Amino acid sequence: MASSKSKGRVSLDERFYLSADGFFLANAGLGLTYDDVSLATRYSEVLPRMTRLDSSLSDSLALSLPIVSSDMDTVTEHRMAIAMALNGGLGLLHYNMSEADQVAEVRRVKNHIHGMIGDPAVVSADDTIAQVLARIERDGLAFSTFPVTSSDGTLLGLLPGSTVKERHGQRKVVAVMIPRDKVFTVAEKDLGKDPIATADRKFSEHVGQNKLLVVDAKNKLRGLFTLSDIERISEESRAHVRPTRDADFRLRVGVAISVPRTADGEIDRTRLLAHVSALIDEGADALAISTAHGHTKGVGDALRLLRKAHKGITLIAGNVTSGEGVEFLAAAGADTVKIGQGPGSICTTRIVAGVGIPQLTALYVASRAAAKKGVRILADGGITKSGDIVKALTLADAVILGGLLAGSREAPGKLMEINGKTYKEYRGMGSHEAMRKGSAARYGHSASGKFSKVAAEGIEALKEVSGTVDQVLGTLAGGVQSGLGYLGATNLAEHRKRARYIRVTPAGQREAAPHDVIEIKAGS
Ligand code: XMP
Repeated sequence: MASSKSKGRVSLDERFYLSADGFFLANAGLGLTYDDVSLATRYSEVLPRMTRLDSSLSDSLALSLPIVSSDMDTVTEHRMAIAMALNGGLGLLHYNMSEADQVAEVRRVKNHIHGMIGDPAVVSADDTIAQVLARIERDGLAFSTFPVTSSDGTLLGLLPGSTVKERHGQRKVVAVMIPRDKVFTVAEKDLGKDPIATADRKFSEHVGQNKLLVVDAKNKLRGLFTLSDIERISEESRAHVRPTRDADFRLRVGVAISVPRTADGEIDRTRLLAHVSALIDEGADALAISTAHGHTKGVGDALRLLRKAHKGITLIAGNVTSGEGVEFLAAAGADTVKIGQGPGSICTTRIVAGVGIPQLTALYVASRAAAKKGVRILADGGITKSGDIVKALTLADAVILGGLLAGSREAPGKLMEINGKTYKEYRGMGSHEAMRKGSAARYGHSASGKFSKVAAEGIEALKEVSGTVDQVLGTLAGGVQSGLGYLGATNLAEHRKRARYIRVTPAGQREAAPHDVIEIKAGS
């Protein structure tokens, strides 16, 4: 490897491109964020595809993609959490819902069998084909093969698409269906630890079959695999995506919890512990105490309570932007500390309350305190492109995304069409509407308060629909891998060691984006 240093002399490279300590200490007193800084490249023999992005949130929670979806009510419910875990990241379920609903959301993620349609559309034996056709039309279904079940879910047969034709309209399903004993099925208990591999093998063994029905011991329909889904998933798994799974092969999930209070303002310990036990019984892998200000007695007390009650669970807490805040939360039992106050794309904390630190400076300060205390940090908010993630990962163990995921198909919320473009709602948890739904405590307000009188610290907005989580994360991960390649790093530990920074002027920022051309196709 070429040396940048001649004997006894500091090279120009070393004078200009500083390590994290050299750079941030030289800029002490200045708040810097992603666009203020660029990373210097280094000699490299590393191609992007040779890099690994493995990280972890605790000694027991490893990720193969260092990306976490934000615990916001327009970002993470079970569909997002499933998609995040399937891509090697993690979803943090939000808490603007009842405790029972949150437990049910965890159950949905933990019970998810990738590739299996858990509640397939079914028809009953007494339906006529004309009724089935009307249903396909009404619900806009893109398929015409249906399992046939009785009212208690018992599998009676399979209605093949080839019979669902106008000419057979008056016939009953029972007259044309494939009877139960000829239907291609697998017992739920035989799916084993890797249901995709089991289904894949079964399809290979049975030429011509393209639907595999899953039944339980009582012959109740539990799900359905289609050959096309299995082929697509097998193809994807060859692309080296490693889902985040627990020891029982279930997807992992994190849950944000709000801390309930009694009438006199004390933590309602009984209620908090009962809810957390219910979440852990369902298999929750991490709990996050998410507030706008984590360096507070309330967050410290709640963390200590949870750590005492559940020694092994991964605890995430925040948000803070100071070294003292990180040390405080680490001492109270956090494994991972969320860093970010006001950088989010829908945040107005800095405008409303006049507080908060630009993200890269906050991450530097936090990372040094975290290293001292042996905890991890998450860069939360303000990330708008893969290059920001590359920069964040020189200091943080993983990043949290809100806005970049809010437009994806798996984010909660309905699609809206405006002037031919499709959008989804994206709102701050400190916006009036979100606080009304339950997140007021996160911003230090009473849950029963009149929100029109408190200052909102977030806005309500729209995000243009951006495709699936697989697509969004695939593009982001590709960008991060390129970043590592430029620095000659094969993994994130090397990336952190090899990072050298330089300040960018406003002219430098303009130079960094497409300029002096008429853009005809936007880059991804
Ligand atoms: P991005 O930039 O990814 O940020 O959209 C998401 C993060 O923003 C935080 N958040 C808020 N911060 N007021 C704030 O000051 C809010 O209303 C608000 N809602 C979310 C949160 O940390 C999230 O992960």
